[in-house]
Amino acid sequence: MIIDQFKLTNKVAIVTGGTRGIGLSIAHALGEAGAKIIVTSRTDKYDGLKSLKEANYDVSFLQGDITKPNEPQKIINFVLEKYNSIDILVNNAGVAQHGTMEEFDDELLDKIMNTNVDSVFRMCRSVLPQMKKQGEGVILNIGSISGLVSNIPQPQVAYNASKAAVHMLTKSLASDFAENNIRVNAIAPGYIDTEMTKLTKENEHWYETWKSMTPLKRMGKPSEIASAALFLCSPASSYITGEVLVIDGGYTLR
Ligand SMILES: NC(=O)c1ccc[n+]([C@@H]2O[C@H](COP(=O)([O-])OP(=O)(O)OC[C@H]3O[C@@H](n4cnc5c(N)ncnc54)[C@H](OP(=O)(O)O)[C@@H]3O)[C@@H](O)[C@H]2O)c1
Repeated sequence: MIIDQFKLTNKVAIVTGGTRGIGLSIAHALGEAGAKIIVTSRTDKYDGLKSLKEANYDVSFLQGDITKPNEPQKIINFVLEKYNSIDILVNNAGVAQHGTMEEFDDELLDKIMNTNVDSVFRMCRSVLPQMKKQGEGVILNIGSISGLVSNIPQPQVAYNASKAAVHMLTKSLASDFAENNIRVNAIAPGYIDTEMTKLTKENEHWYETWKSMTPLKRMGKPSEIASAALFLCSPASSYITGEVLVIDGGYTLR
């Protein structure tokens, strides 16, 4: 049955930044499909972990700052010690910071690039040997429409550049590791209602501009990313690799 191809029974899946927003919703989707999930983040201040436990998934939390160079290998070691395998890696943790190039000093630039690009690179580098050993694996990176178009009105040159890098990292890894039966895809969300967009949503001009430029005339919900994430992490998408799937209510059509 086709529906069985969405099942992830006993698969081991890591979701970075899985304690709130899009990552939490993805963790719920993978857990619902039967995966054992490991979520990471610096904090759990929105009770995301509690909601995953209450849903009765097999879930673990590993606290840490993904920008620390040793953190990715620490996450992989933790998961291997616990489960001895890793089937799915979702690189979701990310930060957004607005500002023009003139406003971006090195400290801000480092924060964006370390979180959104370097940590994704390191997570992939740390997980690939295990996936090669297992003879299969799935990596899903969360990019953004900001890696495809220079969305307005907010200035966010560094964020845009970081997400474009995530898309190209995705394609390069998909090409390099296809022979190992490892699929690498990305999702490029448009404006999604999460903590990340909460403050900026309070800027009426920005919020109205976003909505008016989105053909579906609303922001997306984290669950509208999670359903596609489940598809891309499951055997249902077994012939898809190197894809950057845009989910933006039509924003990039115009
Ligand atoms: N929301 C949108 O409109 C939108 C659009 C396009 C793309 N995206 C992308 O989607 C992903 C998720 O965004 P979101 O909207 O769900 O954001 P969010 O609500 O701010 O959640 C971000 C998650 O990442 C974790 N995180 C951030 N920095 C971290 C670090 N240094 N180390 C470990 N964990 C860290 C956060 O936990 P802690 O803060 O506790 O560490 C949190 O769990 C991001 O990559 C974002 O760029 C979002």
